[in-house]
Amino acid sequence: MTTGAVPSVEPPGAAAHAIEVARGQPTGDGVVARPPYLGREELDALFSVEEFEPLAAARMHPTTYQYIRGWAGTGWTAAENMRAFQRWVFRPRFMRDVTHLDTSTTVLGETVAAPILFAPTSVHKLAHPHGEAATAGAARALDIVQVLSTGSSTSLEDIAGIGPKRWFQLYWYTDRGLTRELVERAVAAGFTALVLTVDAPVIGWRETERRTAMVKPDDATAVLLPEDLSGVAQATDLTWESLEWLRSVSPLPLVLKGIGRSDDARLAAAHGADALIVSNHGGRQLDGGIATLDALPGVAAAVEGLHGAGGRPLEVYMDGGVRRGTDVVKALALGARAVLIGRPVQWGLATGGEAGVLRMLELIFGEFRSAMGLCGATRPSEITRAMVTRNPEPTAPRV
Ligand SMILES: Cc1cc2nc3c(=O)[nH]c(=O)nc-3n(C[C@H](O)[C@H](O)[C@H](O)COP(=O)(O)O)c2cc1C
Repeated sequence: MTTGAVPSVEPPGAAAHAIEVARGQPTGDGVVARPPYLGREELDALFSVEEFEPLAAARMHPTTYQYIRGWAGTGWTAAENMRAFQRWVFRPRFMRDVTHLDTSTTVLGETVAAPILFAPTSVHKLAHPHGEAATAGAARALDIVQVLSTGSSTSLEDIAGIGPKRWFQLYWYTDRGLTRELVERAVAAGFTALVLTVDAPVIGWRETERRTAMVKPDDATAVLLPEDLSGVAQATDLTWESLEWLRSVSPLPLVLKGIGRSDDARLAAAHGADALIVSNHGGRQLDGGIATLDALPGVAAAVEGLHGAGGRPLEVYMDGGVRRGTDVVKALALGARAVLIGRPVQWGLATGGEAGVLRMLELIFGEFRSAMGLCGATRPSEITRAMVTRNPEPTAPRV
């Protein structure tokens, strides 16, 4: 195992961190705690996503758990992402035939069992030795898309053999050769969309990561990047015009992750995006930023009627704080075609590997199906804005 301490002050240009977890210098030893994972029977006794977090925390080194849980600054935005869901309540419709509920939809033309994707989060081997392969197995079983991170601890080619529905999340490096190679590998390995993360040109101010050295298993490394990360730096000079180059080296549909404003959404459409993800990196980048659910309606309205470079209507997804099936219905009512889930995937992995991720998502899935039907919709496309309204008592906590 190794320990990575994050320097107290980022070196100049280290906005350009290679990946979230690979920063820092080795400083010493630690103990990586990995008590037995829960089996199928024990997992079946869990009934909410919230139950997974403490079980996951107990199975990870505290510093690893903190890294996954972490946020920028005070953590206000990370918490706000979740609070935003409490600001909306349902206006259910009844006396509608909901005999046949179908949660399936399409994302970029690909049929998926539910409007839920696995968000790209780095180094899944922090949470479980099978890492992204376990996540891919769960995505296959659930018939949903896994978005593989540039910070993956499993190779693109290994994932290709497991998960049939896979997109690749790209960080763009100053070394265009490296960036291009990542794109080419993703294309060759059959990934069907490229998700460019735009909200991290500068690294967020992560106080916990700065304060505490992370203790991690030896195999928990970003295998898609060069072993020597000293020369690897994220590009800080990207502009809308830069997308032209990316589109010239990638035949894949382009998804921009981290859009939160209507003007940026329209610019993204004008520069060839096929889909947008309203995201603030789970509150890990700019503390004080708007909750993603609050940003979503404006972005969705801004691109209504616009088409992506591939000719399809531009799609809008969102992530940040989605923990329940009811959250998924609210996001769809406010303009998202689908949502992505970040931290809970890591909790599922740490609790029970592939079976843990499967169970975690089955719960969100099940509640989504139930809530959709109770709102009077038989399929995601029938979920409308009229099914939610602002919460008259917005401070009411979740029980
Ligand atoms: C541990 C961790 C690592 C992440 N790594 C990446 C990454 O490599 N690339 C990326 O675009 N987003 C990354 N994200 C952000 C997620 O894709 C997603 O936006 C966020 O987790 C959604 O919020 P949620 O965790 O509340 O569901 C990471 C998030 C976490 C928690």
